[in-house]
Amino acid sequence: MKKKLSIIGIVGAILLGHACQRDNSETTGRDDHNPTFIRLETPPHFSNPMPIPVDNPTTEEGVELGRFLFYDKRLSRDNTISCACCHKQEGGFADPGRQFSLGVDGQESLLNSMAIVNMIWQSHFFWNGRSHSLEHQAFFPVVDPLEMDNTWEDVVQKISAVDFYPAMFKAAYGDENVTQDRIIKAISQFQRTLISSNSKYDKAKLQNPPQATFTPLEEHGFFLFELSEKGDCFHCHGATFSGQTFAAFGAVQFSNNGIDGPGEMNPGRYEVTGDPSDFGKFKIPTLRNIGLTGPYMHDGRFATLREVIDHYNSGGKMSATIDVNMKHVGMGLNLTEYDKQALEAFLETLTDADFVTNPAFSDPFVNDPNFIPCP
Ligand code: HEC
Ligand code: HEC
Repeated sequence: MKKKLSIIGIVGAILLGHACQRDNSETTGRDDHNPTFIRLETPPHFSNPMPIPVDNPTTEEGVELGRFLFYDKRLSRDNTISCACCHKQEGGFADPGRQFSLGVDGQESLLNSMAIVNMIWQSHFFWNGRSHSLEHQAFFPVVDPLEMDNTWEDVVQKISAVDFYPAMFKAAYGDENVTQDRIIKAISQFQRTLISSNSKYDKAKLQNPPQATFTPLEEHGFFLFELSEKGDCFHCHGATFSGQTFAAFGAVQFSNNGIDGPGEMNPGRYEVTGDPSDFGKFKIPTLRNIGLTGPYMHDGRFATLREVIDHYNSGGKMSATIDVNMKHVGMGLNLTEYDKQALEAFLETLTDADFVTNPAFSDPFVNDPNFIPCP
């Protein structure tokens, strides 16, 4: 029996405003295993299809298990750091206010934490894109000496020993076995539900009919963002902000936006491809919730959106690999103070209050008597 139901009120607020299908008829073949499959559906105002790996379908039980694991500090060597310590919901799942995130023993990560949002549409992860799936990515933070500094054997052992987990693994996978593969798959399922599509920008410009109206300042900022002769931001940052790359402009995923000149660049994408034309290129980040995720750029060098805008206004620094869409090198954009305020105001419209307060994405351990906050 297939039921088509609206998401709201079914899986809480997992995907506010999206439709989904709940189908209880599929099972894994075990009589006593009957997980609730969720079919994530593209918000109507995004055009992207939703690729889900066949070997890791999304289920309510898997997503809930993944939420617990994402927030569980037992994944780290000394039980102090969870994924969420560096990817905070209130900061759009980036690490607001920190140029570099803190791992175990107060060590600093090498790069600025990235926002985990609309990951479902992305094909390359990390600033240099060295990982090609969420399932592949999630292995690394656990063993990274600057992050969780743990072994997967230790994670499996500690998680198996927690009283409530075996039942959750059984609900998600059919038996109580805790494995590295199952932990990674559950975390990935949870991350796929982290979809932001309900910002003021969505409401004013993408949803039909519009559910909000831009102020004149926001409208001017949007105009500059889209205008080739001025901001020209859309050429790289796209129109729907659903992922880091936008269908309409092909497969541009990595770019050099001129923050560094020759001799001062981090190799970036070149570390992965070895192709000199990739030197100094980084994943083009989403701008969703950008007002919450600062500091900015792969090394968190800019503390505020104003500093980012001042960078683009300067035209950027010339180098062999600078993107052709950085057309104002040497000239600058000549933005007025009003233009800068307008761009800031527009970027703030990308904040999605539902996303950053959605209880379905929140920390399940806050009421735990042994709860310790992130450093
Ligand atoms: C100590 C801080 C820290 C911890 C803990 C941490 N991350 Fe991250 N995360 C980062 C940083 C920094 C980056 C960017 C690193 C890079 O590009 O080399 C990142 C990148 C990512 C990305 C790539 C996003 C994109 O747009 O490409 C994902 C997904 C992610 N982390 C998920 C996780 C998960 C899942 C966990 C827990 C298993 C986790 N992180 C734990 C700091 C952290
Ligand atoms: C040529 C492509 C390109 C253009 C044009 C461009 N950007 Fe970027 N943008 C990037 C890349 C690549 C990064 C990441 C660079 C890095 O970290 O080294 C970035 C980073 C950013 C960030 C920081 C994101 C984060 O999470 O740290 C903001 C904000 C931003 N751009 C806004 C803008 C605005 C506003 C404009 C127009 C004035 C613009 N961009 C034009 C490619 C571009």
